Amino acid sequence: MRSFPGPNIFSLLSNAISFKKDPLAQAQTFLNTYGDAIEIQVAWMPIMAFNTVEYYDEILRKKYQHFPKSEKYKELSALMGEGLTTSEGDFWKQNRSSLQKLFTPLAIETYLHKLDSIALDYIDKIGESKQRDFYQDMMQFALASITSTLFNKDYSQDSLKISQALQDFMSGMEDRIFQILPGMEYLPTAKNKRYQNSIKILKDQIKSIISEKRTHGFEKETDLVSLLLQAQQDSTKFKITDQYIEDEVMTFFLAGHETTASALTWLIGLLSTNPTYQRRVQDEIDQNLNIEFTSSDINNLSLLDNCLNEALRLYPPLWMTSRQANKSETLGGKKVPKGTIIVLSPYFLHRNTKYWTDPETFYPERFEKPLVHKDSFQPFGIGPRGCIGERFSRLEIKILVIRLLQNYNFKLKAGYKLEAKPTITMRPKNGLPIEFERRKNDQ
Ligand code: HEM
Repeated sequence: MRSFPGPNIFSLLSNAISFKKDPLAQAQTFLNTYGDAIEIQVAWMPIMAFNTVEYYDEILRKKYQHFPKSEKYKELSALMGEGLTTSEGDFWKQNRSSLQKLFTPLAIETYLHKLDSIALDYIDKIGESKQRDFYQDMMQFALASITSTLFNKDYSQDSLKISQALQDFMSGMEDRIFQILPGMEYLPTAKNKRYQNSIKILKDQIKSIISEKRTHGFEKETDLVSLLLQAQQDSTKFKITDQYIEDEVMTFFLAGHETTASALTWLIGLLSTNPTYQRRVQDEIDQNLNIEFTSSDINNLSLLDNCLNEALRLYPPLWMTSRQANKSETLGGKKVPKGTIIVLSPYFLHRNTKYWTDPETFYPERFEKPLVHKDSFQPFGIGPRGCIGERFSRLEIKILVIRLLQNYNFKLKAGYKLEAKPTITMRPKNGLPIEFERRKNDQ
């Protein structure tokens, strides 16, 4: 007996081609047909998808201990091991609370100058170039931001190699998460080889960051790697293993990289296709900021904040997440058998007409008023497993946009259409070709 309505296996098979062609449109069709709570039975495994704030609250807050991350999610353990994203229980809880100190408002303030200098390096890199693939640029920018702040390491030399390894890893991971036929990952294909090679490159990099710190000393440092090494040295109660330190450093390397690059890409893509907003944000920056600024100056830029929120609403970088019932449970009072996979997608929640008027339209002013429901907007997740890096990435994104708009006007390459491609993160199809025009001094 089903708990929720949903397509049967014949309907799934007959829609398989349209799903492959346009997964977002097909998923929206299912939501329109069956409602905001859907059940799909694939072989023996029930899969449920939900699209209202009440279900999100039950799964991610009230009953989060009974809905840990799913087995598919755990594929990420190939690199992240027992890091924060993929661990559970008391081990996760204790690590989360000790890492939180890297993300307090005070700690974030200390990252401002490093983030700003990386943003200014990027402005230099644009120089007089007419057109750039902004998505690729942002992958490297986000990598430099994470490594120079959280690892206290300059990566400018290796950034292309690491960025490529990260993309190979993500691409191999996508195949593993979304694959239907088992065993494909063991075939000796070029892509599988690139995936294995990317794991080696990334692990070697992480090992070298850690060993460099060990050799050169870390006592007075406040970055993530030093914090972990210090805790290992001081801990008497819990043993902190070398493997755990590697897992955690890798976790932050991955979790804070492509997500922020994707958010920046969409924000600039949307400001390019909505030039009136680009001009208005630029005016706001010109009128309120000098060349030097503090994070509270940045926080006063309300239109920039609303535009960022609107980009995160339309294209949440982590557009889908999953959980799995570890015992027989109920949701909305209906039975959820042990093992059920739960699929949640802020992409669809952010378009649910129960909470959003005209949801497809880019309209940043909608964030000026209180939302219909505060949980209807959750690009960084909610509950105890919500994003630990939200403040960090908001600051990083805004600094880059400020420096860009102080120096350039930009638009999409003629003829390019901004379209979404849902992979592990939400990316634009075919990168983001942006044409830059340097601002004249008298503007
Ligand atoms: C725009 C950028 C970002 C977005 C949209 C984003 C989004 C999210 C979301 C939705 C989750 C929850 C996932 C789930 O419940 O399944 C999450 C978790 C996490 N994020 Fe972010 N994130 C961003 C940037 C960052 C940055 C910059 C860092 C690190 C500096 C980071 C580190 C993490 C970690 C470690 C977790 C796991 C937390 C836990 O399970 O306790 N994220 N993020």
